Amino acid sequence: RRVVVLISGNGSNLQALIDAQSFDELGGEIVAVISNKADAHGLQRARDAGIDAVVLPHDEYESRDAFDGALIKVIERHEPDLVVLAGFMRILTPRFVHRFHGRLLNIHPSLLPAYRGLDTHKRVLADGGEEHGASVHFVTEELDGGPVVMQAALKIRPGDSEESVVERIHAREHLIYPIAVRWFLEGRLQLGPDGPTLDGMAL
Ligand code: GRF
Repeated sequence: RRVVVLISGNGSNLQALIDAQSFDELGGEIVAVISNKADAHGLQRARDAGIDAVVLPHDEYESRDAFDGALIKVIERHEPDLVVLAGFMRILTPRFVHRFHGRLLNIHPSLLPAYRGLDTHKRVLADGGEEHGASVHFVTEELDGGPVVMQAALKIRPGDSEESVVERIHAREHLIYPIAVRWFLEGRLQLGPDGPTLDGMAL
């Protein structure tokens, strides 16, 4: 089973997926990594693992739709069973989301449906929130609004800073994302008409 990963930056989640693959724990193979930014460190992580690393700079396209059209083409060339967003910082058009419906996963640094969008850590801390976390979800047209398949939570501690929270969120992301991807690739996790199922049971 074939996976294409989309990134924009550091790619620590990509690394977690690469590591899982190297232990034969991913349930498939990452066949390409695509970044909309040429300087994304994750591209190097891909190359180091012998994975095809592709740069598709969004600013070379005149519209979001033109970029997404090009992105769809590059992705489809790799014939993926699953497309994984791992720190891909672009809003995708409905056309893109429909094209990969049911085989498009994202990881978001909050306990969805709380704190959709950007700057989640800052907002949780500013609100004096007691709990925070990360969510893996299927992508739908609604930004960070698709059905959640897995979450990891953490308690905010007195003295926590954005930095300390990011570190603990990342540790959790790196645990849960490879598991969700594996479930999908093994055919256990699916997006049915009534929402996600695991081994045929509603999540
Ligand atoms: C992660 O926190 C993820 O939840 C969010 O973007 C960040 C990407 O980090 N979507 P990395 O590039 O995987 O290190």
